[in-house]
Amino acid sequence: MPGIIVVGSQFGDEGKGKVVDVFSQKADYVVRYQGGANAGHTLVVDGKKTILHLIPSGVLHPHTVCVIAAGVVLDVERLCEEIKALKLNGLLKEDSQLLISDSATVILPYHRQLDQARERAAGNEKIGTTGRGIGPAYEERASRKAIIFGDLFSRETLRAKLETALKEKNFLLEKFYGEKPVNIDEVMALVNQVSDYLAPYRCKDTSLVIHKALKGSKKVLFEGAQGSLLDLLHGTYPFVTSSSTLAGSAMIGSGIGPGTVNSVMGITKAYTTRVGSGPFPTELDNELGERMRQIGQEFGSTTGRSRRCGWLDLVALKYAIRINGITSLALMKLDVLSGFEKLSICTAYELDGQRISEYPVSPGDLGRCKPIFETINGWKEDLTKAKNLKDLPRAAQEYIQFIGAQTAVPIDVVSVGPGREQTLWLRPLFS
Ligand code: GDP
Ligand code: IMO
Ligand code: MG
Repeated sequence: MPGIIVVGSQFGDEGKGKVVDVFSQKADYVVRYQGGANAGHTLVVDGKKTILHLIPSGVLHPHTVCVIAAGVVLDVERLCEEIKALKLNGLLKEDSQLLISDSATVILPYHRQLDQARERAAGNEKIGTTGRGIGPAYEERASRKAIIFGDLFSRETLRAKLETALKEKNFLLEKFYGEKPVNIDEVMALVNQVSDYLAPYRCKDTSLVIHKALKGSKKVLFEGAQGSLLDLLHGTYPFVTSSSTLAGSAMIGSGIGPGTVNSVMGITKAYTTRVGSGPFPTELDNELGERMRQIGQEFGSTTGRSRRCGWLDLVALKYAIRINGITSLALMKLDVLSGFEKLSICTAYELDGQRISEYPVSPGDLGRCKPIFETINGWKEDLTKAKNLKDLPRAAQEYIQFIGAQTAVPIDVVSVGPGREQTLWLRPLFS
């Protein structure tokens, strides 16, 4: 199978970056197809941490071509910073390793400003966005007024486009939110700077590059951002992001046809976390949740916010498996559960006195759901040095088996630490 789609099966931050980095040892291409710098994907190699927001997580492998496809919303200022930091650390040597689609939607500072102004104005009703301008950028794309990456290289038409965009944006910023308006000359100065810097990475048609790679049996990884429950249509709306985070989006965001890739790996934490507002039935708003947060270092890779923590939710995981067509799972951060005497796993909900086992798509219903747990024994042993499944204590093996049996999806990978080497392969990759 030349292509694998890697998706988050929960609320994001499941460990997608680590999995993509590890898989990239064998991949020829890694493609980011949606989302933007709201993502924070962490790679840990020889104890050294790299956090990527826009650049695909294959970048630490010099043989892997990293593609930013049309579906991404591209904060060009942050992308320049990310490239500079990688180069400074000797981690991006060849410009040819990165390709950016001319069709990707550009995020400029005013998208961020609008996102943040909106959140401030919403007060207690806020979504808890990352403030990275994601919503305003996708809105602009849908309204057919967006500036796309290719536009940055035709400056005269760009200025005219910007003038039109800023008329509306400044009206909103000034008159509606009472914020400072944006100065077009400052935006143009920024654009001039970044477009010169990013010109070597420009690719007119990344869809063709990916198509040829798949046809030529090259190994291609599609790196999802965010998680299934943050999907714009099928997540916990309105507490979601503004893109489709599901596996199907890999096709659309990259510009390839359905059926060209049919392996979908769902990345799943051994428990659950969520950043921002919205329903979370298995949340532990107590000492146990705090313990998970500390042991798992559950603080956002993008905003540094505390992540809300709770038990594994199999109702939600099965929903994610269904809506993504997940064909295998990677179970992450199992090491974090060492030392919990008992482990609870949610296998059903109680909704208005009824037991249900399907995820309710209405957010009002989800907010009223109470989790029904099965409890299994925990383990005390440290897992972080394990190399094989049989190195794990029996209770940890039983935890994995329980998830496999309940979901009826093979667990291909178990992760027992942030490092590349702390990865147990239960089935070979690209088999
Ligand atoms: P992503 O957004 O899905 O790529 O995930 P993040 O990078 O935002 O968050 C995952 C965090 O968990 C990062 O700090 C990783 O280094 C870390 N991590 C990944 N896998 C493991 C694991 O198996 N055990 C532990 N302890 N940490 C892990
Ligand atoms: P990765 O790829 C976790 C959440 C925000 C907020 C909601 C909307 O690292 O898993 P947005 O800025 O997208 O408009 O915010 O989505 N969110 C994430 N949570 N991981 C992410 O990405 C996220 N990207 C956005 O916290 O609740
Ligand atoms: Mg993250």
